[in-house]
Amino acid sequence: MDFTTQHSGHEAEIIALFTDTFTASEGAAEGQLIGKLAADMFATVDSRDMIVVCGRDGEDLIGSIIFTRMTYAEDDRTVFILSPVAVAPDHQRKGVGQSLLRHGLGVLRETGVDVVLTYGDPTYYSKVGFEQITEQTAQAPAPLSYPHGWLGQSLIGKALEPLKGPGRCVAALSDPSYW
Ligand SMILES: CC(C)(COP(=O)(O)OP(=O)(O)OC[C@H]1O[C@@H](n2cnc3c(N)ncnc32)[C@H](O)[C@@H]1OP(=O)(O)O)[C@@H](O)C(=O)NCCC(=O)NCCS
Repeated sequence: MDFTTQHSGHEAEIIALFTDTFTASEGAAEGQLIGKLAADMFATVDSRDMIVVCGRDGEDLIGSIIFTRMTYAEDDRTVFILSPVAVAPDHQRKGVGQSLLRHGLGVLRETGVDVVLTYGDPTYYSKVGFEQITEQTAQAPAPLSYPHGWLGQSLIGKALEPLKGPGRCVAALSDPSYW
């Protein structure tokens, strides 16, 4: 798999990957919701606040992750959140997701990101270094319907110290239906 962080000009293809992958795994409504999330991010998030990692097999887009910036009002660390991630159905369960996640975390480190958060299955994300956290460690930007899925990791080689202040994500991700 080849990795790229160039998404300009490929937005429609990436949105289709998210729509199709989530439709296949969780149904049409979820597919539309996550496709819209990716589309809203491309339309509204400043390029400095977004990192998109794609995995390709030749010309074919087989996986993608979008990271967007979060801010904690009283904390000067650089924080990004991973959401969403998808691997095309025909390529799942072959290690593509973990390889894409590891590469993406490396890109964040190289970019100077201190902390990465996500919201998902703790068993899956623990394979790439995430640990379950509470809102004492990082306030979530919306009420969590599944607090067990609130996850984080430090990217600077020391323990994750609590992030100070209210947490804010990009507007595209702040809709309570994502949380
Ligand atoms: C979740 C996803 C990104 C994982 O990518 P992948 O390439 O299939 O995963 P990998 O091959 O790297 O890892 C496989 C392991 O992860 C676990 N795993 C895979 N998909 C999982 C899922 N949806 N939930 C929990 N664990 C999962 C399994 O333990 C699997 O190991 P096994 O094959 O021995 O059972 C991919 O399946 C996907 O796009 N799913 C649909 C969209 C989605 O759910 N995105 C994540 C939202 S939080």
